[in-house]
Amino acid sequence: MEEKKLIIAVDGHSSCGKSTFAKAIAARLGYTYIDSGAMYRAVTLACIEEGVISGQEMDQEALRKVLDNISITFRPAGSGSAAETYLNGVNVEKRIRGLEVASSVSLVSTSAMVRRKLVALQQEMGKEKGIVMDGRDIGTVVFPDANIKIFLTASAGIRADRRYRELKEKGEDVNFEEIKKNILDRDRIDSTRKESPLKKAPDAIVLDNSHMTPDEQMVWFEELLKKLYGG
Ligand code: DC
Repeated sequence: MEEKKLIIAVDGHSSCGKSTFAKAIAARLGYTYIDSGAMYRAVTLACIEEGVISGQEMDQEALRKVLDNISITFRPAGSGSAAETYLNGVNVEKRIRGLEVASSVSLVSTSAMVRRKLVALQQEMGKEKGIVMDGRDIGTVVFPDANIKIFLTASAGIRADRRYRELKEKGEDVNFEEIKKNILDRDRIDSTRKESPLKKAPDAIVLDNSHMTPDEQMVWFEELLKKLYGG
């Protein structure tokens, strides 16, 4: 098991703890964790900054320029700490998690131009294997041959409650109903968009974590590993 470097895809609805789970899997296996949602969020921030978005429309020429010049990287904040997202060399970790970006990220992720660019970057990042990537289309589009595909889900109310607490802890001024509406809107847009809609890969394993703790999820994962690879 330790010999064979795997690609592990964790897809699912927004705010159901994909990144917490994917990070824990990566730490357990000594793999690299890649947050593909952070990449869509970083592109969205760049689009906001460059005035690409107006209402529900995007200026395609301006978008092309943004994508041609974009650099998205991940660097750990300190030794042993989680990686943070950098857009064109600037740390944008905090800004990409706010409501301004959350409100436009679904629109930006419907763009075929954006998806083409990010899927290519993600496939490049996976070349070395030994990675855990979370997102919406990792098991279906980015790595259709991933060794393990997990499709994570949880009820909308529980997801909204988790997100509310998380943002509140960070000191953001948040409203539960607004967050729940944002989650439901994103579910709808993510699942119905034409380009790479969120859907379970036929060979993905579904995990509903509505009533599971992070520790219980890891027990589930250990059992899955044992079943698939023994030991
Ligand atoms: O996982 P997240 O909530 O940080 O993702 C932010 C948005 O990016 C989400 O609304 C859908 C989009 N996304 C996507 O379309 N494809 C991915 N692989 C990852 C995220």
